[in-house]
Amino acid sequence: MRKKPWVDTLLENPPKFVHKDCKFVHQNITKEFERVHLEIGSGKGDYWILMSQANPQDFWIGIEKDTKVAAIAIKKAMDSIQNNQIFVVADAQQCLDDIQDAFVDIIHLNFSDPWPKKRTHKRRLSASSFIAQYHRILSADGQIIMKTDNKDLFEYSMVSFSQAGFVLEDMSVDFRRTFHEDAISEYEARFMSLNQPIYRCVWRKKSHG
Ligand SMILES: C[S@@+](CC[C@H](N)C(=O)[O-])C[C@H]1O[C@@H](n2cnc3c(N)ncnc32)[C@H](O)[C@@H]1O
Repeated sequence: MRKKPWVDTLLENPPKFVHKDCKFVHQNITKEFERVHLEIGSGKGDYWILMSQANPQDFWIGIEKDTKVAAIAIKKAMDSIQNNQIFVVADAQQCLDDIQDAFVDIIHLNFSDPWPKKRTHKRRLSASSFIAQYHRILSADGQIIMKTDNKDLFEYSMVSFSQAGFVLEDMSVDFRRTFHEDAISEYEARFMSLNQPIYRCVWRKKSHG
């Protein structure tokens, strides 16, 4: 994506719901919220925006490291921002360290970059270093929900989550919504229009044993 001058201007003086790291996310969340969701790699924000609007009883944190894409998400959200939304422009690899233990109830990974070459697998959002962090920040019985179009990434992730002791709760190799269980992300809309299968899995943290 070409550099857009408004991106720097927006990120130099961001609206209140935007943060550069995860240090302050805890302060913004009051007890009135039922659950805390974290979407990593939110892209242009459709999923984060639609899900936070559809679930005002929950708190929604989006993280996106690409500043150009993040700025588009922020711009989209600005006119309808609610008190249950925060957007963090940062690399999750650095900023998850700042999230308190057991703080998040559900982690959402939507169409994460596949990093196909073996030497780049460690950058996958389902690599073991990330999963160790997810395990730490997830509450007892917390969940990870992942959707992807990429079979190789899906298989890799299935193995990674099971090796890390998560319990598989649901899996589909051709995910079709039977009711409005979640929102459609930008990438998902693209793959749906191409009639490509969408893989989805739901994992639960084992709270005991
Ligand atoms: C393929 S896009 C998918 C975007 C969106 N989730 C969707 O489904 O349309 C993956 C996004 O994840 C972001 N991403 C990848 N690794 C990340 C990381 N470590 N921290 C934050 N964002 C990351 C990328 O910058 C990219 O915008």
